[in-house]
Amino acid sequence: MATMLKIPVYDVDLFSDESILNPYEHYAKMRELGPVVYVPALDCYAVPRYDECCTALRNSDTFISGRGIAFNAPMNEITHSIITSDGKEHAFLRKLESAPLGRKALDSLRERIFETAEKLIDDLVAQEAEWRDGVKDIAYFLPLTIVMELGGLPPVGRAEMLRWAAASFDLLGPMNARGQAALPVIQGLLNYVMNDIDRIAVTPGSWADRAFRLADDGVIAHEQVGHLLADFIAPSLDTTIAGTANLLMLLGQNRDQWERLKQDRSKIANAIEESLRVETPVRCFGRFVAEETELGGVPLPAESRIAVFFASANRDARKFDDPDRFNIDRANAPDHLGFGTGAHQCIGANLARLEMTAILTALLDRVDDLDVGEPVYALNNLLRTLQSLPIRLHAGTG
Ligand code: HEM
Repeated sequence: MATMLKIPVYDVDLFSDESILNPYEHYAKMRELGPVVYVPALDCYAVPRYDECCTALRNSDTFISGRGIAFNAPMNEITHSIITSDGKEHAFLRKLESAPLGRKALDSLRERIFETAEKLIDDLVAQEAEWRDGVKDIAYFLPLTIVMELGGLPPVGRAEMLRWAAASFDLLGPMNARGQAALPVIQGLLNYVMNDIDRIAVTPGSWADRAFRLADDGVIAHEQVGHLLADFIAPSLDTTIAGTANLLMLLGQNRDQWERLKQDRSKIANAIEESLRVETPVRCFGRFVAEETELGGVPLPAESRIAVFFASANRDARKFDDPDRFNIDRANAPDHLGFGTGAHQCIGANLARLEMTAILTALLDRVDDLDVGEPVYALNNLLRTLQSLPIRLHAGTG
C-alpha cells in the first residue's frame, strides 16, 4: 500500500449558486490540495484528479453504486435502478437496457437523426441573421424528438419532460433548495411511468413496447416496467441538451476551432469529445465505500462516501496539457470522463454522440459562420448546462 497521506479539507459548499456558476476555480483548488479532499458540507471525500477518478470508477467492488450515488440520504435509499445497482443485478439491467442503444440499433436510426437535424437547421438558416436561442431552438430539439420517438411513449408536454429531466439531476445533489424544489416535480415523472403509460398507446417496436414484452415473458416483473422507462427518460435528455449547447457555445467562442472544422470534417468526432471534456455535462456522482481502502495513498474508511468529479478530472493538467483550452486537435480528448468509465460507463454515449454529430454536421453544411452572445448558465445541482445562448447563424454554401 502506498504511503498514507493526511487528508486535506475543502470547506466550501460545492452546490451553492456561486460554485455552480464558477466551478472551475474550486476544482483547481481541490486538485491542488490532493488526490482526495474531505468536504465537510457533504460529509464526503471529493476525488478531483483524473487518475484517482479512473481508479475509483473502475473498482466497482469497493466503490459501489448500490447504496446510492446521490449526495442526500433519501435519494440514496432509492436503489436497484441500473445506475444504483452492483454486481449481477447491475449486469442484468445493463444487458437489458443497453440492447436498444447498441451499434446495430443506432445504425438504423442514423438517417432519421440526420434528417431531423438537417430540417431543423434548414428552417433556422431560412431566417438568417436573426438572433436565436441556441438552447431552446437547437439543443432541445433532437433529444426531445428522438427520445419520445424511440421511447414510443404517449404524448406528454415537452416542457414537462424537460422539468422532469432537470429535476432528476437536482435531486442527486444535496437536499438544498434546488433538491427540495425537485421533489414534487419528480413525482410527475413517477406518475407518468408508473400509471400513465397504457401499453395499448405505446408504439410497437419502441423501448416502452420492449419493456412490456420483457415483463410478459417473465424476464422482469411488471412493476419494473416503469423503472426501466424512468432509467431511460431521466438521463437521456438534459445530458445531451447540455452537451449540444456547450458545443455550440465553445465553437462560437473559439472561431479558429470552427474554421478548423469547416476545413477538415474528419475532426468532428474529436471536437465533440473535446467539448465534453472541457464543459463536462455531469459534474460528479457519488460512490459508497464498501470496505476500508485507500485512494491515491489516502485512507478511506468503510461506509464513507466519495464524490467522483468527472468535470474536475477532465481539467486535470496531469492528464490534459493546457486543460482549460478548447482544442479540437487534442489527441487524448477521447480519454475524458464525461461519460464515466468502468462498470457504469454511460450506455447512451453513442446515441448522444450521434445526435451531436448530426447537429454539428448540419451546421457545417449550411452555415458559414456563427456568432454567440453571452451564455446564461442554468442552476442545476449536478449538470453543467446552459439556460440560454444567443446565437446567430450566417448561411453559406457549406
Ligand atoms: C452527452 C450526453 C450524456 C452524458 C454527458 C452522460 C453522462 C453519463 C455518466 C457520467 C454516466 C456514468 C454514471 C456513473 O458512473 O455512475 C452515465 C451513465 C448512464 N447514462 Fe448517460 N450521459 C449522456 C447521455 C445519455 C443518454 C442519451 C442515455 C440514454 C439513452 C443515457 C443513459 C445512461 C444510463 C442508463 C446510465 C447508467 C449506466 C449504468 O449504470 O450502467 N445517457 N451517463
